[in-house]
Amino acid sequence: MDLPLRPHVRRMQPYAPGKPIDELAREQGLLEIVKLASNENPLGPSPRAVDAIIGAARDLHYYPDASGFSVRSHLAERLGLSLDQVALGNGSDDLIANLAHAVVGDERDDEIVVGQPSFVRYAAAAQLANCRLIEVPMDGEMRYDLGAMAGAVTDRTRLVVLANPNNPTGTIARCEEFSRFLDTLPTGVLVVIDEAYYEYAAPDPEYPRTLEFVTDGRPVFVLRTLSKAYGLAGLRLGYGFGPAALVDAIDRVRQPFAVNALAQAGAIAALDDHEHLDRTLEANRRGMAAMSELLAELGLKAPQSHANFLLVDFGRPARPIYEALLAQGVIVRPGDALGAPNHLRISIGIESQIERLGRALRSVVAQGVAV
Ligand SMILES: Cc1ncc(COP(=O)(O)O)c(C=O)c1O
Repeated sequence: MDLPLRPHVRRMQPYAPGKPIDELAREQGLLEIVKLASNENPLGPSPRAVDAIIGAARDLHYYPDASGFSVRSHLAERLGLSLDQVALGNGSDDLIANLAHAVVGDERDDEIVVGQPSFVRYAAAAQLANCRLIEVPMDGEMRYDLGAMAGAVTDRTRLVVLANPNNPTGTIARCEEFSRFLDTLPTGVLVVIDEAYYEYAAPDPEYPRTLEFVTDGRPVFVLRTLSKAYGLAGLRLGYGFGPAALVDAIDRVRQPFAVNALAQAGAIAALDDHEHLDRTLEANRRGMAAMSELLAELGLKAPQSHANFLLVDFGRPARPIYEALLAQGVIVRPGDALGAPNHLRISIGIESQIERLGRALRSVVAQGVAV
């Protein structure tokens, strides 16, 4: 059938989701699946958030508050910003798409500059906005090459989007180099700093304090989410902060009820549950240490990660290793889908999950799949 699809939509690839747990369990006849593929919180959501969501469920016959007033006020207060500097989205994915809608695509040759490999949704946002994506390779340590990124900016560049920590590498751009990078950019370029893994990286003194860039009135927009350390990936709530004029532009392009009522109720409770966040960060530190031991034992390397995952280098195409792990009920993320074909991105699990992963990886290595 000849449908009237827009040419750039025909060229787009749909999002390739990870293997669902239930499907894999059925396929492999396994009862217990370990999912370390989407950088979710292995401790689950905050119990306080769950209670708030159950409470809010009784009012589901009402539309949600389209302005997200309570969550935005809560966030504005925590950040020391005004309400009009804070935006919400149905996950930060939604904000990324809305930012692209608001900023690029007016001229066909508008450009978005990103790192490579970086978060796959930036490419999707560029495709959807029908503009050019300029991908700048990471340096030899899988860190942003900020000099090369600044060099890739032209008078057609509207947006530079960096995930910090970056997904899938886990590496960070550090405070000083990042400030220098911002100083070199011409006016008229908006820098989006995607801090989906902020809570994991924030304790590092070298991690950029991006809130200061916003309060200094720089043209930056910072994205954060409740999907990672706050354990609410299924609920869908992301937020961003930056110039009020940009929040106003996002308000024009967004769907009014994109952030549902349960997400609004759960978010405030989760943000206030400091104990759950502390437990999460501690579990991640322990998991990182156990993963480093496992990788050292197997002679495998990964760039130093400031997030809750590692990009493990197998030195050869890693898809067969992904398949072999899958056959043992361990789901990780194959790097070929992320622009790093020799790698697997493995989320940090709890002890029992890392033990399971260890057993599976050892047997894969013993079968000669990995080496
Ligand atoms: C760097 C980065 N940004 C954004 C997202 C999307 O997060 P959300 O669940 O808030 O849409 C992810 C999720 O994996 C991510 O890794």
